[in-house]
Amino acid sequence: MKYAFPDNFWWGSASSALQTEGAREGETTWDYWFAREPNRFHNGVGPQQTSTFYQHWKTDIQLLKQLNHNSFRTSISWARLIPDGIGEVNPDAVDFYHQVIDELNEQGITPFITLFHFDMPMAMQEIGGWENRDVVDAYARYAQICFELFGDRVLHWFTFNEPIVPVEGGYLYDFHYPNVVDFRRAATVAYHTVLAHAKAVQAYRAGHYAGEIGIVLNLTPSYPRSQNPTDVKAAHVADLMFNRSFLDPVLRGEYPADLVALLKSYDQLPSCKPEDGFLIAEGKIDLLGINFYQPRRVKCRDSAVNPQAPFMPEWFFDSYEMPGRKMNPYRGWEIYAPGIYDILINLRDNYGNPRCFISENGMGVENEQRFIENGQINDQYRIEFISEHLTWLHKGISEGCNCLGYHMWTFIDNWSWCNAYKNRYGFIQLDLETQQRTIKKSGEWFAATALNNSFEKE
Ligand code: BG6
Repeated sequence: MKYAFPDNFWWGSASSALQTEGAREGETTWDYWFAREPNRFHNGVGPQQTSTFYQHWKTDIQLLKQLNHNSFRTSISWARLIPDGIGEVNPDAVDFYHQVIDELNEQGITPFITLFHFDMPMAMQEIGGWENRDVVDAYARYAQICFELFGDRVLHWFTFNEPIVPVEGGYLYDFHYPNVVDFRRAATVAYHTVLAHAKAVQAYRAGHYAGEIGIVLNLTPSYPRSQNPTDVKAAHVADLMFNRSFLDPVLRGEYPADLVALLKSYDQLPSCKPEDGFLIAEGKIDLLGINFYQPRRVKCRDSAVNPQAPFMPEWFFDSYEMPGRKMNPYRGWEIYAPGIYDILINLRDNYGNPRCFISENGMGVENEQRFIENGQINDQYRIEFISEHLTWLHKGISEGCNCLGYHMWTFIDNWSWCNAYKNRYGFIQLDLETQQRTIKKSGEWFAATALNNSFEKE
């Protein structure tokens, strides 16, 4: 069967500044943490060892073109642009981002730009990071500077990439700096991130720029083990905590009342100011980026909560391992392509069918060298992964969902937070020694799909 996509469908991939650029003025929390605890990073490889986009941006953009991308998302590094987060703008950074944005546009590749992709300037973290409202203001200033510098040539902006991840990693589950475990502080970080988002949206609207502004959320559809009301309730709470804590404010302009009531009953609400509600209402977006990697399966708890243990989302549910689930064993994530369709239908039916696109989807695989045939990685598993997800996305579009494109994570194998280069996600293989880039089979498949705006699958 042929799966054809609407005209002007966005075909591309996503990356981020810290994971690709390398060589940077302006310390981030990642540089700081790596210098102190390199053992927390896979094979002791830190954020200095990237795919060198800062040097090779021009040839990399040629490769994007070879993959027939019509769009590409990356981020601006706040710490590169404003090394101390709040002071002087670094002219080298301005030149660099001007060149990248201009080159993308000249090559017919629409730049999608994220303002914050997990990379907090260390100077901002030192004053409390997202726990401090001064950092919210510093971020709003940084956003405004970006709009002023690049807003005439960037028409698709994203305030944050996966804002729940620094909350989870930094304040609940210990996989990002500052390695705090404290729900109320996590809730404060999440709340202030929403305020920062809303302030950036406000600044964008005030500047009357020609483009649109949105956010990128990692949505994990929450499936209950069964229809037993206790399991359904568990899934509902997981959905409130991990999806709707950001989805509702950015699409509806307010928090779900039952999330607020739940946190209030456990005395976990962040401190709010009366004017915050108006600001959040002004943060409604034009375009939603959806990162989809895995579903979340839950069941009601099997055991009682230890009241002495830190308050956690897991007080309300247990993870459920569905028998027969398909896994990506390298990352430990379930592969469940219909999740993409369920997300789109939920947005269509419950959120007014917003303009959206798949901003990340992907499969990290270890030791891909074993699949080399005639000098090229034959990653058939990735082609299957993509085509399966695209068939569900196609079904969503055919049922009226407003999904405008599909971006893969990622373009070239890149450095990944704590996993460094363990799992490779790219359309293009990176040789870490030589920095040589070689297109994988999946890159060729994607290039053909983008060119034809369609693909064939049985
Ligand atoms: C997304 C992020 O969560 O998933 C990326 O936006 C990240 O930055 C990607 O690299 C893959 O996850 P990981 O942890 O395997 O790198």
